[in-house]
Amino acid sequence: MRIWSLCLESYSAIMSIADELKHAKTAVALTGAGISAESGLGTFRGKDGLWSRYDPAVVASIESFTRDPRTFWKFAREIGWIFLTAKPNPAHVALAELEAMKRLHCVITQNVDGLHQRAGSKRVIEIHGNAGRIICTRCSALCATEKIADRMARQDVPTCDRCGGSLKPDVVLFGEPLPKKAFEQAVKKVRSADLMLAVGTSLEVYPAASLPETAKKSGAKIISIDSERTGWDDLCDYRANGPAGEILPRIVQAIKITF
Ligand code: OAD
Repeated sequence: MRIWSLCLESYSAIMSIADELKHAKTAVALTGAGISAESGLGTFRGKDGLWSRYDPAVVASIESFTRDPRTFWKFAREIGWIFLTAKPNPAHVALAELEAMKRLHCVITQNVDGLHQRAGSKRVIEIHGNAGRIICTRCSALCATEKIADRMARQDVPTCDRCGGSLKPDVVLFGEPLPKKAFEQAVKKVRSADLMLAVGTSLEVYPAASLPETAKKSGAKIISIDSERTGWDDLCDYRANGPAGEILPRIVQAIKITF
């Protein structure tokens, strides 16, 4: 196994990753909160992560939502505006460019911020939902989050105007299953990939965390781009430690100049 621990100056390592992407037949990206960090969205873990300030068992589990939706909505209002106002950063744009250059088949994301689509990525599989949508927990009606902004401001727990059920952002809470179709699609893409580019994820949450292993077992090479060393580095064929918003555009540039 060849592992590159690269500093940003490591031109040759960026070229090696670019070369892998250039020759891959079906590359997929798996993204996590780290890719949106440079858009001003915090990550979950680590010393400044969201879960160092909030207990996910209290604010982000389906069990606590069902028992006490008020506490959940208080938390959602506190952090929600950041999601709704964030803009894509150069890392999102680089992945969209790779797709347009036919060097990346799709993005599988654990993020709920919709920034990949806003950067121009067309094939995005959201395995943890999307905070831009609200779902009724009773009748499953969906609507855009911005459409219920006034209800969110007026009501402690916004309710469905059709059936009166409690509304919830259409994101996966701890204890909830992943959206079946999206996850099945993700597994299918991963099994047929020959390269996985994992960006900004600690891979601490299953089943998303199983995807690189699945890719590896199917014969794919694994590249990790993360600002820190992660607990799953041993699985990687290549590793680039640094901000995704700096590394990914350099990889795209390297592919362009060597075409
Ligand atoms: P984490 O917060 O667990 O991990 C974020 C990763 O991004 C870490 O490995 C950081 O080192 C890295 N990172 C931070 N800034 C970066 C940057 N600028 N460039 C590159 N990497 C950077 O977030 P996730 O792995 O996405 O689930 O967390 C997975 C799931 O746990 C989330 O989807 C969410 C959470 O609880 C649910 O809410 C269901």
